[in-house]
Amino acid sequence: MSNGQTRRVSITDLAAKKIRREKWAMITSYEEMTASIFDNAGIPVLLVGDSAGNNFLGEENTIPVTLEQMIMLSRAVVRGSKNAMIVADLPFGSYEKSPDLACESATRLFKEAQVQAVKIEGGARVIPQIKKLIESGIPVMGHLGLTPQSVHALGGFKVQGRGEGASQILSDALALQEAGVFAIVLELVPAELAAEISEALHIPVIGIGAGANCDAQVIVWTDLMGLTENPPKFAKAYRNLRSEMSAAVREWADDVAASKFPSEKETFH
Ligand code: KIV
Repeated sequence: MSNGQTRRVSITDLAAKKIRREKWAMITSYEEMTASIFDNAGIPVLLVGDSAGNNFLGEENTIPVTLEQMIMLSRAVVRGSKNAMIVADLPFGSYEKSPDLACESATRLFKEAQVQAVKIEGGARVIPQIKKLIESGIPVMGHLGLTPQSVHALGGFKVQGRGEGASQILSDALALQEAGVFAIVLELVPAELAAEISEALHIPVIGIGAGANCDAQVIVWTDLMGLTENPPKFAKAYRNLRSEMSAAVREWADDVAASKFPSEKETFH
């Protein structure tokens, strides 16, 4: 019997897209308004990325983002959406120490924010955490290549998997698939390697700065809309909301100064 709720996109829907070779899009969202816009536009997966750190909270990178912040932002995105699957990042410090810690953190995102899956950065080193989450009924998305939480260990935001690093990323991807993740984000890797991994895996590979031959693509929403001041090379701005918003606020402030706002139309008597 129906409970009257709309059904959200599930991990089996995404598996079916891979079989049909149907490409799809995932976009970040950090609050209710963009969640509702992207959900209404039919985007199947919204990622509450810890990229909220540098794209929403004014931090330099993703490292300072806390589990509490991820829960608050994720809850807003869940509230703003009806159909999309909502995936939340496990932030730095919330899973590395042990599988039990990872499970406690993901459980809070499940119960308090009601997301449908979590994303975890890293390869072989996080397999015990991934197994524990999946055993607990929590779907997990992997993340390989440039993993922003390890930016200092990687020596900066650089392309990963060139030369000898390629076989390590391929073997990590196979290990993650074996552990049971339902999809993997591949960030900032050569297009040829991403194509090879997408072909080798039976689960969806979601690229960002990983060329055109992945099963899906993910983008940070502020990059897509032209709000980010120094966007990465791999992001294409489809609009220039930064200049639109700046023009709008200046126009409004000028109208206020010239006593043109509010006009009769916006006034009560
Ligand atoms: O945090 C994030 O937005 C991400 C994407 C860039 C994949 O991890």
